[in-house]
Amino acid sequence: MRSPSSEAQQRERIPTEIYATADAGAQAIATEIAALIRANNDAGRPTVLGLATGSTPVRLYRQLIRMHREEKLSFRHVITFNLDEYYGLPPTHPESYRRFMQEQLFGHIDILPENIHVPDGTLPRAQVFQACEQYENAISAAGGIDLQVLGIGRTGHVGFNEPGSTRESRTRLVTLDALTRRDAARDFLGEANVPRHAITMGVGTILKARRIRLLAWGEAKAQITAFAIERPPAEALPASLLQNHPDIRFAIDRPASFELTRIKHPWLVGPVTWEPALVRRAVAWLSLETKKPVLKLLEEDYSEHGMADLLTEQGPAYGLNIRIFNELQHTITGWPGGKPNENDKYRPERAHPHPKRVVVFSPEPSDDVLGMGGTLRRLIEQGHDVVVVYQTSGNLAVPDEEAAMATDLVLELAGNGGTSKNPEAVFAREVRTNLQQKSAFTSDTPAIRRLKGLIRRGEAKASLKACGVPVDRLRFLDLPFYEKGRYRQFVIEDGDVKAVADLLRELRPNQIFATGQFNDPSSVAAVCFETIRRALALTKDEPWQQESRMWLYRSPEKDWDAAEIDMAVPFSPRELAGKIQAIYQHKSQRSQGPFDSGLHEAWQQAEQRNRHLAKVYDRLGLAEYEAIEAFQRWR
Ligand code: F6R
Repeated sequence: MRSPSSEAQQRERIPTEIYATADAGAQAIATEIAALIRANNDAGRPTVLGLATGSTPVRLYRQLIRMHREEKLSFRHVITFNLDEYYGLPPTHPESYRRFMQEQLFGHIDILPENIHVPDGTLPRAQVFQACEQYENAISAAGGIDLQVLGIGRTGHVGFNEPGSTRESRTRLVTLDALTRRDAARDFLGEANVPRHAITMGVGTILKARRIRLLAWGEAKAQITAFAIERPPAEALPASLLQNHPDIRFAIDRPASFELTRIKHPWLVGPVTWEPALVRRAVAWLSLETKKPVLKLLEEDYSEHGMADLLTEQGPAYGLNIRIFNELQHTITGWPGGKPNENDKYRPERAHPHPKRVVVFSPEPSDDVLGMGGTLRRLIEQGHDVVVVYQTSGNLAVPDEEAAMATDLVLELAGNGGTSKNPEAVFAREVRTNLQQKSAFTSDTPAIRRLKGLIRRGEAKASLKACGVPVDRLRFLDLPFYEKGRYRQFVIEDGDVKAVADLLRELRPNQIFATGQFNDPSSVAAVCFETIRRALALTKDEPWQQESRMWLYRSPEKDWDAAEIDMAVPFSPRELAGKIQAIYQHKSQRSQGPFDSGLHEAWQQAEQRNRHLAKVYDRLGLAEYEAIEAFQRWR
């Protein structure tokens, strides 16, 4: 194992740089690549790059395109080899990696077409083996790869080297892991459409590159990235096989670093400054680790878990336990909008004003009820003036079958055997024709998208009705970035920020709920959050904002850790059932039958999370509830 560059990194087997944002990380790697290309250009040598696709490198490619345009970075002498391609997809397919590369990079720089190499996903099965050999030979003939760019999948794959791939593996046809296919389901509009096989460079091929730079953004990648960096190398986790490469570096953003020991449990790898938030995190962790409620932790529990210095500084255990217990206790409230006429010194939200003007932002219809359906109902019941704002139409996530059903319904209603001339029928016929003509290679027409958006509106209304929210309290922004974009490739424009800012100015909320930027920075939720952040910056001097508080809720994929929570809203079995009922109204979002592995429907996931959090509070020695929704205050 290489020697660590600092005490805190002693468990890390791969040099890892943590950047404040994904853009900063991408910028750093782009700068390195540009320097390499320039040095080789000056020396009259070609530069051979190994490239990846997916959402991770998009920011890197945007930087390289910018450098080409603004800083005269030339790619005329760059030769590229892409890691992989889905087997069975022609290069024209919207999800083919060849097309992705054209749209995201090659189409915007001066690379020569003959210098581009992407495995061919259209070859007959009998020719694949030989073509893979030729791919390896072509890499060698080009002089080997100077710098390989990688992302990492949640299975720990690099390229499409799924668990079980060997260190020696070479370019070959592989079967995709179930989790990988599920992760791709959104892009392909259903898991059933995701190819089962791919051609990928091997781990051995990647290891031959002179430099390897792996990028990872967002909390969804935190655990697998930490495993790859800190666990002994194993074929079960292909990215860990890169550990002994002589020139490898991981560039990750803050959320992707959350599971590294130096970030998550820094007290285990050296002395720390015991800030209040860290103390709370450490004590909650100790309680769960030792399976003892906070109030029962002993001096020896602290010292046996690397926290002796905390006791020296802030002990004895008895007093420290009580302090943290109280802090956790004070996060719990049945009054998410504040309890009127009560002392609010130890409550998460202010008592006044009451009622409050509350804005709940939902990136796509259904995020609101999934993340805070229980709290939403409470806010309404407690008399607050709640407006739910759907930032995007969510139309990309509606299967064609739903749209087809809706057109049939409209045509049936219009009568005349479907030939009616009324505008609704004309529209429905247009959608129907568009759907019939739609191939795997085209995106939805504006008419299809409009209808799909209307389907989601209908579901959102039904869902909020189940939460007790009056229908006139809904707003649909249909933000342009989403209407113009595709998954993983959204770009915010001024119009998006303006729409959110105008709404905030109009509603002047005392309380804002929004869901965040953490899991995957290219997700709809993250882009939507960014529009809110910028809108708040635009309106920062307006008086309403001085008195407004923003709370973050989470998607059911990942909850907060107990110690990160500022407000925990518990609810009863009945209220939990009500929330599930509300989620259930988003019918187009349920799994699409037996071909989707959909182990968990969204409502099941949400239910599980809320119950789990209640258990965690119970284990910490707080009260025992059925379910809890949690929020963090945004500062
Ligand atoms: C893509 C590739 C994959 C991705 C990985 C992460 O060419 O080889 O290993 O890097 O699946 O995908 P994203 O970046 O979409 O999270």
